[in-house]
Amino acid sequence: MFIGLDLGTSGLRALLVDEAGRAVGEADSSYDVAHPTVGWSEQDPSDWTMACKAVMARLRDTHPKAFGAVRGIGISGHMHGATLLDDTGTVLRPCILWNDTRSHLEAAALDAMPMFRALTGNIVFPGFTAPKINWVAKHEPEVFAKTAMVLLPKDYISFWLTGIYSADMSDSAGTSWLDVGARDWSNDLLAATGLTRSQMPKLSEGSQVVGELRQAIAEEYGLPRGVQVVAGGGDNAVAACGVGAMSEGTGFVSLGTSGVLLAGRDGFSPMADSAVHTFCHAVPDQWYQMGVVLAATDSLNWLARITGKSPADLTAELGDTLRSPTTVQFYPYLSGERTPHNDSAVRAGFVGLDVATDRAEMTQAVLQGVSFALRDSLEALRLTGANLDTILAIGGGARSSYWVEMLATVLNLKIELPEQGDFGAALGAARLAICGVTGAAVEDVMTKPPVAKTIVPNAAMVDSYRLRYDQFHDNFPAWKTIQ
Ligand code: XUL
Repeated sequence: MFIGLDLGTSGLRALLVDEAGRAVGEADSSYDVAHPTVGWSEQDPSDWTMACKAVMARLRDTHPKAFGAVRGIGISGHMHGATLLDDTGTVLRPCILWNDTRSHLEAAALDAMPMFRALTGNIVFPGFTAPKINWVAKHEPEVFAKTAMVLLPKDYISFWLTGIYSADMSDSAGTSWLDVGARDWSNDLLAATGLTRSQMPKLSEGSQVVGELRQAIAEEYGLPRGVQVVAGGGDNAVAACGVGAMSEGTGFVSLGTSGVLLAGRDGFSPMADSAVHTFCHAVPDQWYQMGVVLAATDSLNWLARITGKSPADLTAELGDTLRSPTTVQFYPYLSGERTPHNDSAVRAGFVGLDVATDRAEMTQAVLQGVSFALRDSLEALRLTGANLDTILAIGGGARSSYWVEMLATVLNLKIELPEQGDFGAALGAARLAICGVTGAAVEDVMTKPPVAKTIVPNAAMVDSYRLRYDQFHDNFPAWKTIQ
């Protein structure tokens, strides 16, 4: 048996699988994101370990036999967070998350140094880890002075499980400290933020075993001795492992808190200017590229919060038949923008509201705005040479078949929906553990899930959505100007 842990932005999911990767049990535990001020986004790492304890206890209680047979654990996590530890391994301040934009000035300053794009293959985005450290050095110098180790969120869980500081290539590629082509920390990039290799964890590939579960945890939860923990990976790379999007021509769209359009790549072919992210995959010798929309289901959740409805109620009001595009445009930049504009300051809004606009039309506009932002990412990905024809849809938003049909129409791509089941990052994490512990080959384990349904673009509406998308895209500068 194997456990995949998926440390998400709003909660931790644990999946217990057998050696063939079939789900046997699952458990979830949620936690909050703190926004102490506009643009800030933080989490207390102790919330993650508490959630970890809760899911372990639940799996043990619900599946005692299988849980007692666990051999390996893999971890996926939300990327880019800065978890700062002192020389005793104590957390120095709340983790600054991926959707925190406070360090936009520091990011721009690092990005202006040509070596960053040249070595990392990416823009230094404000959400990435390195600029956060420069922000801390400037605003919290006493914290910076005590920082002995910088860990990504899932690596903090790994440290808690094993007592070992480890990192993997896929997550580390999002720090701006990794030479992404060479798959190694760069001394020069670290030095530009006042750090050295001694403050970085040891790098491994995602499926490599990094250590054994601490005895105290094994005893507390009734796990066997010698459970092995693999390095794991950043959530998007690991989700790609869950759906078999490993190589050229394979990809997925994820409708989660953030929205991601991802393509597997056989080589390292960065194009930083496009604002496409080029990162190492969680398995050796592979990379992937993606466009990121910072608020995907987050946009729908926001509308749900302020209308007092659930996201499912809102999408149900639209019915089953795809509507024509609405003239109400929604710019979904509630937390700023990544691909293709790299604009952490721009904010969201509706344009073109009419006295007749009702709640359903606003929902339509929100789904449409997020879909258009993903079309922006598709255009950017195409510039890099990534070739996508059919993609899988994963994440909570994919439960709305209305949204998936709209997205297929906006992207003009076929979208496959996996059969019922867990095919996201938790499964990907468990699959990395299976490879690491059993030595099974990546191509045998990271397979594509059975497809329940293929949603094709609504041919009658491709053109009208295309026209509305062009307007969305062309008017971005105007939207920016009036803010
Ligand atoms: C990727 C990114 C998000 C987070 C949170 O660059 O910022 O997808 O990993 O899920």
